Amino acid sequence: MKFQSIFLGVPLCAVTAVAQDHPFASIFRPLATPARSEYQLSILVLIICAAIFLVVGGLLAYIVLRFGDRGPITHAEPPQVYGSNQVEIAWTVLPVLIVFVLTMATARVTSAIQDREPTSSSLKVTAIGHQWWWEFRCPDLKITTANELHVPVSSAEHYRATFLTLDSADVVHSFWVPQLSGKTDVVPGRHNKMWIDPQEPGTYFGNCAEYCGAQHAHMLIRVVVDTPEDFDKWVAAQRKNALMTNSAGEQNFLGQQCVECHTVRGVPASGDSGPDLTHLMSRGTFAAGTLPTTPENLRRWLKDPQEVKSGNYMPNLELSDKDLDQLVGYLTTLH
Ligand code: CUA
Repeated sequence: MKFQSIFLGVPLCAVTAVAQDHPFASIFRPLATPARSEYQLSILVLIICAAIFLVVGGLLAYIVLRFGDRGPITHAEPPQVYGSNQVEIAWTVLPVLIVFVLTMATARVTSAIQDREPTSSSLKVTAIGHQWWWEFRCPDLKITTANELHVPVSSAEHYRATFLTLDSADVVHSFWVPQLSGKTDVVPGRHNKMWIDPQEPGTYFGNCAEYCGAQHAHMLIRVVVDTPEDFDKWVAAQRKNALMTNSAGEQNFLGQQCVECHTVRGVPASGDSGPDLTHLMSRGTFAAGTLPTTPENLRRWLKDPQEVKSGNYMPNLELSDKDLDQLVGYLTTLH
């Protein structure tokens, strides 16, 4: 199905008008203002560079063909030309003009993107890069989630941008969802900013774009762009706490080391070095996009997280089959 949707992307979008995947993580299909401005700028740069290439390459080819083979080698020196004002002015002024145009166009796009300020309707999100997953906090909505960020669609009638503050818990990462915006570095001790205003619902794919250690490649980002109604539903569901049920699985979970790193709101589990698990099952994948969130995969992960994603900070807890059954049973109740 994923294969089909990649190769039949166009017919499928016609059929499913809403909420389709956008699997082409490509800068050439921008679907938000920052990505579109950067795309237009890159096309201008490409055109200018292509023109320079054609002129230089064309002249070079002409000279090689026209003056290349002139019969037997003579050792006479060709005519020497010194101090041609016209030629020197031409090859100084033209590049200066080209660089000036590129600089001004870049400065204009950069400042248009950087100077945008959030309004009262904007969604504000803090994205925190960890080795190797993403934490997303929406302080105004009191939501914390991981790896899969939901934002509202921003249509012409209902403009609603999302402003992100980027923090790092450890090393330098880079937040990049190509169809929504360019890369922005995520640097410890800094609060870099970026914003997006996605114009079509659906799931957008991105990844960490700065090498950050062994599992850098398994640090994927999903941005799910919802219709306003779906977004409100998502917010309402995410704000709920987990229910205390005193089930065997819950007791087992609370008795394990799990609670030292993970939070499940509503029960006494408030570790904060690992992803918030309160609504784990609402996310399509876990381990930063490494595996789909299914009971089989959760079991595989709990049995030996290092086998799935070697080097990650979740240790092998040497769980028995009974523990695994109970823990997976409990986790799958976290909707
Ligand atoms: Cu985080 Cu690469």
